[in-house]
Amino acid sequence: MDSLRQQNFETRAVQIGVGRDEKTGAVSFPIHPSATFRHPGVGESTGFDYTRSGNPTRQILEEALADLENGARGLAFSSGMAALTTLFLHFSAGDHLIVSEDLYGGTYRVLDQIFGKFGLGVTYADTTDTTAVAAAVTDRTRALLVETPGNPLLGVADLEALGAICRKRNLLFIVDNTFLTPALQRPLEWGADIVVHSATKYLGGHNDLCAGALVTRTPELGERLYFLQNSTGAVLPPQECWLLMRSLKTLHLRLERHCTNALKVARWLRKHPAVNSVYYPGLEDHPGHELSKKQTFGFGGMISFRVRDAETARRVLKRLELISFAESLGGVESLMTLPSVQTHADIPEAERKRLGICDSLLRLSVGIENSEDVIADLEQALSTGD
Ligand SMILES: Cc1ncc(COP(=O)(O)O)c(C=O)c1O
Repeated sequence: MDSLRQQNFETRAVQIGVGRDEKTGAVSFPIHPSATFRHPGVGESTGFDYTRSGNPTRQILEEALADLENGARGLAFSSGMAALTTLFLHFSAGDHLIVSEDLYGGTYRVLDQIFGKFGLGVTYADTTDTTAVAAAVTDRTRALLVETPGNPLLGVADLEALGAICRKRNLLFIVDNTFLTPALQRPLEWGADIVVHSATKYLGGHNDLCAGALVTRTPELGERLYFLQNSTGAVLPPQECWLLMRSLKTLHLRLERHCTNALKVARWLRKHPAVNSVYYPGLEDHPGHELSKKQTFGFGGMISFRVRDAETARRVLKRLELISFAESLGGVESLMTLPSVQTHADIPEAERKRLGICDSLLRLSVGIENSEDVIADLEQALSTGD
């Protein structure tokens, strides 16, 4: 792996698993479905004993995840929520976390309705405001969890500045990198300790896989999270590990196209009379535009936009033809959601309203189709005629 470290991101992505099956020379690393492995003798191991603890296919994937994020250790889970849940088990009753208020509703739900019962305290903060984050730190704060860009409002948090606060206050700095992936943003290089992924999204990229990942900056933290992964067992099965490896090989190409398409769509949406506002960090007047240019290699494929009212939003969703009205994001196929009733339904209504996640806000995951076809579908869906 050391020599591969010298190569560029795209090359390392494409070469995942190549040359790793020395026995057969397979270019596509094989799937090892075996649940258990024969021991050569008592107290001896091939390096694999039992698939929850370690599996050859998962090992190649986990090494690749670490390599692409420039981390020390990667761990693959059965979903993004499994990765986050395992990570939250690192904390103890009485510990306190600061978490982005503009975040995936499922993360809010697991913290509020499950970890809250076990005494884990959470303050939700506007993590695009570094001063607000610093002010939220208490003696009990152990970590900061940031989604950037935020979900669904796409605010951009300053990774370098937040990393400095975490170092000063001795907090674990955790970044959910689902929206941009290491092809566009590498939080560990800006001071993060742990990166989280819903690999169901861009890493998987084809809406055919549910997976999650954690990547750590240090081997020690990796070992601690491996202990939790092995103890609680939400590992990614070997078949899915193989599928995710195959997806990662085209990550950079897909993201390039997601970015160019999203910029075209965002610019088009902004001019449409039925659209009140567009949230996309690639637009020059987005408040996080300059920061994005500094800390990312592209603005991503996610756009949110507001239409006149809830009724218009519902009509648009009903009229879509090419774009699927469906939850999730990050696949090659364009998807649109209504966050207030789908991805963010578990956030209390008053809080959603305060944040601006209302029934007229639509979230679009721009796929890699021809952008003209995506725009044509939006045009007919937004039109007022029959
Ligand atoms: C930013 C983010 N993190 C985590 C998750 C949870 O991932 P999964 O659905 O794979 O469990 C999601 C799901 O939408 C997400 O959008």
